[in-house]
Amino acid sequence: MKYFVSIGIFICFFTSCSSDKGEYIPIDQNPKLEFEIPSNFPDLDYDLSSNPPTEKGFELGKKLFYDGRLASDGVVSCGFCHIQDFAFTHHTHIVSHGVDGALGTRNAQPLHNLAFMKEFTWDGAAMHLDLQPIIPITAEVEMNETFSSIIKKIEEEPEYVQLFELAFENKEINSENILRALSQFMIMMVSANTKYDKIERNEGAVFTEQEAAGFELFKSKCASCHAGTLFTDQSYRNNGLPIDAQYNDIGRKRVTGLESDIYKFKVPTLRNIELTFPYMHDGRLKTLQDVLDHYSDGMVDSETLDPTFKNSDNTIKGIPMGQEEKEQIIAFLKTLTDDDFLNDNRFSEF
Ligand code: HEC
Ligand code: HEC
Repeated sequence: MKYFVSIGIFICFFTSCSSDKGEYIPIDQNPKLEFEIPSNFPDLDYDLSSNPPTEKGFELGKKLFYDGRLASDGVVSCGFCHIQDFAFTHHTHIVSHGVDGALGTRNAQPLHNLAFMKEFTWDGAAMHLDLQPIIPITAEVEMNETFSSIIKKIEEEPEYVQLFELAFENKEINSENILRALSQFMIMMVSANTKYDKIERNEGAVFTEQEAAGFELFKSKCASCHAGTLFTDQSYRNNGLPIDAQYNDIGRKRVTGLESDIYKFKVPTLRNIELTFPYMHDGRLKTLQDVLDHYSDGMVDSETLDPTFKNSDNTIKGIPMGQEEKEQIIAFLKTLTDDDFLNDNRFSEF
């Protein structure tokens, strides 16, 4: 509940009282960063004109992203749970853990191509990228901090004071500029240089026979949800995971209150999926083989199970697949790994 209250406050804050405050007017010391939409990508969802990434805004966002002072224990930075080598997931952790080892209930999501997404988190609780970080910052099981306390801490550091001065016209160290800077950093995290992309853009790469077979299977069995070049149609669906008694995470219903949304979660992107294990909203599945075994044999029925997975007589169909087909799909999924992105120093802590 706490999440929604604080998000509500910020929505008001953003719409009613800040339209001209944090806006940046380019100056020599702070050039605008080029943002190029990859030619095989859709249009952006994020309105860049409302918060154009600049050199200093990005630098500030990165510093904040890796700064433990955004958490009450001084340790749990954004980068603590979102680790670049694993496409910014908290890879060994089934559910992420925050300050004092407090356990959350969900698996950290990868951070890439966020400027193309409409809603954020597994249930869509955050409707704008600028608002998303309020959740981890204020959540007791994540960073357990308040903006006023963060501002006090970072105001003491001259480097921060200078970066805020250069990055934002009003020069203020306030929550709005903190969020804008974090967005500027995250907007630039585009992952679009996989083997799959190079093939789509005719840049000379070719699938192996196994990958090509996997791609065909993927298109017929998976792409209705994991759609397009982002590998998600950004809808909320129930893919038949057994209900977890420990957390009983109700998914999208938490946001909409609708019974028809119970146990639905956002269709995740599959980019860099080889590295973002463990899988599903609560990290219950360890490997891609486990994921495909779930789709072929592990589904359980419920009121909201996606109709794609049912036969006309209402029995469960799942996604029938043999072992060879699964291996082909996995080979294809591995062509979605983007080494350039994973090793891109612009996003690295050091
Ligand atoms: C304690 C671990 C933890 C910390 C710290 C943390 N996150 Fe996350 N992050 C998560 C988890 C878990 C999710 C999925 C949340 C959910 O679905 O409710 C998530 C989701 C997100 C998303 C949504 C991604 C998407 O595709 O929808 C963004 C963006 C994000 N985090 C950015 C940040 C930023 C910025 C910070 C620092 C201010 C941060 N996170 C700190 C664990 C963490
Ligand atoms: C009807 C829609 C739908 C179809 C079809 C579908 N998926 Fe999914 N997939 C989802 C949803 C929804 C989730 C997230 C479920 C959750 O965490 O509760 C998901 C999760 C995943 C994950 C875990 C991702 C992560 O970040 O943890 C993988 C991998 C995956 N699907 C692969 C596939 C493959 C491969 C196929 C085809 C064989 C497929 N999916 C077919 C909807 C679908």
